[in-house]
Amino acid sequence: MSVSQAPSRPAASAAMIGEGVAVVIGASGGIGAALFGALRAGGGYRDVVAFSRVSTPGFDITDEASLRDAAASLGPAVPRLVVDATGFLHDGKQRPEKSWRELDPAQMARAFALNAIGPALIMKHFLPLLPVERVSIFATLSAKVGSIGDNRLGGWYSYRASKAALNQLVHTAAIELARSRPEAICVALHPGTVATPLSAPFAKAGLEVRDADTAALELLAVLARLTPADSGGFFDHKGHALPW
Ligand SMILES: NC(=O)c1ccc[n+]([C@@H]2O[C@H](COP(=O)([O-])OP(=O)(O)OC[C@H]3O[C@@H](n4cnc5c(N)ncnc54)[C@H](OP(=O)(O)O)[C@@H]3O)[C@@H](O)[C@H]2O)c1
Repeated sequence: MSVSQAPSRPAASAAMIGEGVAVVIGASGGIGAALFGALRAGGGYRDVVAFSRVSTPGFDITDEASLRDAAASLGPAVPRLVVDATGFLHDGKQRPEKSWRELDPAQMARAFALNAIGPALIMKHFLPLLPVERVSIFATLSAKVGSIGDNRLGGWYSYRASKAALNQLVHTAAIELARSRPEAICVALHPGTVATPLSAPFAKAGLEVRDADTAALELLAVLARLTPADSGGFFDHKGHALPW
């Protein structure tokens, strides 16, 4: 199954051209920066707003007040597209686990804070800004390894589980969103393997690794084909629905 092509419903992109603002949250990241650049270059929005830890105002995804302030900083601007491109896999202190022997409660909690709770708080503060009657999109970058149905290799416990939690949060929020904003779309996206600092240690030979600019254009093309019937779904960069 792929993103719907229902002819009776307007394509989100067509309804958004020239209207409202687009917002990229996590615009300092590899994919986030490319999404911001592509949206600016595309010219389909009155403005494209970037939020990151170094923007003004900035935000930290573990600090709800900073997310509330970022949302409030939009003022009367109505976002028609909000993309969350934040996420965490590894750093100098933490790497994905190969075995349950490596499970560490503090590291697991950190993965959940960054990959699931943070995006949930983004939804809490940005979904209410979406227009009530017109088509709009909220998309967050999840990962196919968060799919339970697709998990054949094991490992990466905290990342997998935190992205699975994110997918559930997106699906749940989409149900609530539809009650007040029937034309709004809320989805989780898998960007494929993209050459960024997040994937660098794991981009093995044989994997199809794309540059961030290519990935951004592919993701925006998927978003442009979404309709409200797709809300609550989990799609890859080709627009194919992924198993939960
Ligand atoms: N690259 C891939 O192959 C791939 C594959 C599947 C899924 N994804 C998903 O795609 C998304 C983007 O990944 P990427 O490859 O672009 O990674 P990236 O280059 O490491 O970007 C991660 C982004 O998350 C932000 N972030 C991390 N912790 C934060 C915090 N506490 N507060 C605010 N922002 C925070 C980073 O901000 P700073 O710049 O301030 O650190 C950066 O903007 C992630 O959700 C990732 O799981 C990526």
